[in-house]
Amino acid sequence: MARLLLLLEHKENARLLYEWLSEKYEVIFPGEPQRLGDSFDLGILDGPALDRLAGMVAARKKGEEPLFLPFLLVTSRQNVGFVTRHLWRTIDEIILTPIEKVELLARVEILLRARRHSVEAENRYFALANSSPVGVAIFQDEQIVFANEIFRQLHHEVLGAGKAEKVSKLLLAAYPPGGKTSEMGYRMELETKTGTRWLQCSDREITYRGRPATLRVVMDITQDILYEHELKQLSQRILDAQEQERRHIALELHDQIGQMLTAIKIGLQAVARTAESLPQTTAQQLEASIQTTEKALQQVRSLSLNLRPSMLDDLGLLPTLRWYIDQQARQSSLPIRLQTNLSDSRLSSTIETVCFRVIQEAITNALRHAQATQIMVSLYQEKDWLIVTIADNGTGFDVKAASQQATEGHSMGLVGMRERVVMAGGSFQIESSPQQGTTIHARFPLDIALPTYSMKETKS
Ligand SMILES: Nc1ncnc2c1ncn2[C@@H]1O[C@H](COP(=O)(O)OP(=O)(O)OP(=O)(O)O)[C@@H](O)[C@H]1O
Ligand SMILES: [Mg+2]
Repeated sequence: MARLLLLLEHKENARLLYEWLSEKYEVIFPGEPQRLGDSFDLGILDGPALDRLAGMVAARKKGEEPLFLPFLLVTSRQNVGFVTRHLWRTIDEIILTPIEKVELLARVEILLRARRHSVEAENRYFALANSSPVGVAIFQDEQIVFANEIFRQLHHEVLGAGKAEKVSKLLLAAYPPGGKTSEMGYRMELETKTGTRWLQCSDREITYRGRPATLRVVMDITQDILYEHELKQLSQRILDAQEQERRHIALELHDQIGQMLTAIKIGLQAVARTAESLPQTTAQQLEASIQTTEKALQQVRSLSLNLRPSMLDDLGLLPTLRWYIDQQARQSSLPIRLQTNLSDSRLSSTIETVCFRVIQEAITNALRHAQATQIMVSLYQEKDWLIVTIADNGTGFDVKAASQQATEGHSMGLVGMRERVVMAGGSFQIESSPQQGTTIHARFPLDIALPTYSMKETKS
């Protein structure tokens, strides 16, 4: 049953209203001294009462927000100026004296309906928050004034604390609300008894019960972070293994096949020295075989160097790049330029390998797909960053479509480049548009500790 608070100084009116309204509603009078602390759904007052209590009424209305707490003023026709000052600020509706019973009941009912709608809306909001699969809480005046079930569970679990107030205190200390509003939200790391937990949070400034508050939505993403971490480690291991395998094959090619081909060539050359005693056709065949062997030797060498130039381990990035670019430029008859402010001093083996592989793939792509007439590689150190760009003036391509195809497994190059750079803590970007060519940008922080590619052979 709706509860009405009567604040009428006019005794006769008070008696009359009580008589009419108590048939249908619970009607109460404020205790002494007059306070508006009781709970009620509609306040009815007259001019003198409003004059005295205007401040309290305004505060009480504000304190109830977002709920609507209506006040009805009983006044005479002469008091229009007074009413205008108060309407909407403190009072929501008026009824003129002499009071008509039907009119009074109609106005009371309308105001109570408005009140009911606002209560229902707030209940729906809380029901929604409580059935949400993510944690929802409202922070106000350094307290948690609302927390849904998931939020409470999350923080009991996360903090391992028993009492709600303790959790609330720990939480406020751990991540005070405010100042961190962003579309994407932010990640919080919480140290708990059972280890580190990660929370994805998002804060919004709202008005709650008439005052500023922070609405926080929280998701436990610890498991996702752990998977992400495992996945990164796995990718790192795959890249590591790939480098080792390439190095191994490169060495085998160079040391085994290369040596054998050299031996064959030396043998053939020894036979050729006795050419005078050989028939002319045999001597010609012999010379052709020596040349074929020489070609095979060159190919084995080039294959081995492309797989993993031992130069990269022995001399470092810059000499290897100079050699590689020179070799590619000669083979393709294209000008490939290298600009750099790096000295020949060594970088970490991870950065050297990643840079070399990215530049190698970008040049290969430019030669294979771009029909470019020139390629420019630049490698600059700016403070603690290494900035690499590879630009061609070729056909360009649809980066979005190619990246999509690449992630579906149609190609390895673009995905591999990005993955290597990100793994080394860097960022990667491709700029390309039709007929404007393609530029690959990669940046690496030089000062962070990185896992290094182990260059030792794995023992089997
Ligand atoms: N510099 C470039 N200019 C024009 N098109 C390019 C360039 N780089 C890449 N592409 C386009 O993007 C596609 C994907 O490149 P990606 O390197 O992933 O694969 P790929 O070179 O075809 O094969 P691989 O897996 O051997 O590298 C290419 O097939 C090509 O169409
Ligand atoms: Mg490629």
